[in-house]
Amino acid sequence: MSIPPTIEVRGLRKVFRQATTGQSVVAIDRLDLTIQPKEVIAIVGQTGCGKSTFFDMMIGLEAPTEGSIHIGDKSPYSDFDYFRGKMATVFQQDRLLPWRSALDNAKLPLELMGRPEDEQRERALMWLNKLGLGQFTNAYPHELSGGMRQRVAIARAFAVQPDILLADEAFGHLDEVTAAELRDTFLQLARECGSTAILITHQLEEAIAVGDRIAVFGKSAKLLADIHVNLWPKERYGELREAIQATLQSQKADPRLMQPA
Ligand SMILES: Nc1ncnc2c1ncn2[C@@H]1O[C@H](COP(=O)(O)OP(=O)(O)OP(=O)(O)O)[C@@H](O)[C@H]1O
Ligand SMILES: [Mg+2]
Repeated sequence: MSIPPTIEVRGLRKVFRQATTGQSVVAIDRLDLTIQPKEVIAIVGQTGCGKSTFFDMMIGLEAPTEGSIHIGDKSPYSDFDYFRGKMATVFQQDRLLPWRSALDNAKLPLELMGRPEDEQRERALMWLNKLGLGQFTNAYPHELSGGMRQRVAIARAFAVQPDILLADEAFGHLDEVTAAELRDTFLQLARECGSTAILITHQLEEAIAVGDRIAVFGKSAKLLADIHVNLWPKERYGELREAIQATLQSQKADPRLMQPA
């Protein structure tokens, strides 16, 4: 697999005009962020701070009002088709097609990419097996639990062997044990595949568990803190959690985050 390209976000701004009130909402206000190849980054921030808007722009669903996102020398919005099969997403809802079996759901992106039928089947089966669903490949979504459906969604994301994986609150609605287990599987697989992974969450525990790096977003996706978690010893994670919490509450970087760990 190729090395994923660097992601460069420069002066990114997104303003929405709300249809009902006619008022403008600045969802993202001049965000700068560089994400290195194979980096695993968690983005945390309070509700409404612009996380999903950032996600939608990363996957090319929304155009920037100003500024840019570059992935290598391409832009996800202007070069939308180029990124087919290079980026994969996992959302809070599994978004499985109810009339397709687990296998047929997992192979759908490969089908859309026009890959040979044998390859579609083989890759989808491999990932369903890796995610512990070997016995359920012919089951339909309504026959599976929420956690199992989310596993199918993860298998579907990995099956395209993406350079970049994006997850938006992908584990938030599951019970804590299942969520932690799936998150760990997701991270382990992302590392095995050498993908860059971006996980959006509003749960601090989840962000810290991700490991490499945490970007703390304030209102309008203002980058309040950019934390390299691997510089923090595990025994100071409690302090790290408190400092991030304080940052989110005050909307200012907590001084403890400025100190070298
Ligand atoms: N399509 C849209 N039209 C108008 N306003 C929008 C649109 N999408 C998002 N917004 C506004 O942009 C702001 C950021 O929304 P966004 O969904 O990015 O937040 P979020 O950080 O993902 O929140 P949450 O944690 O609740 O998912 C909000 O004020 C929201 O109302
Ligand atoms: Mg959101």
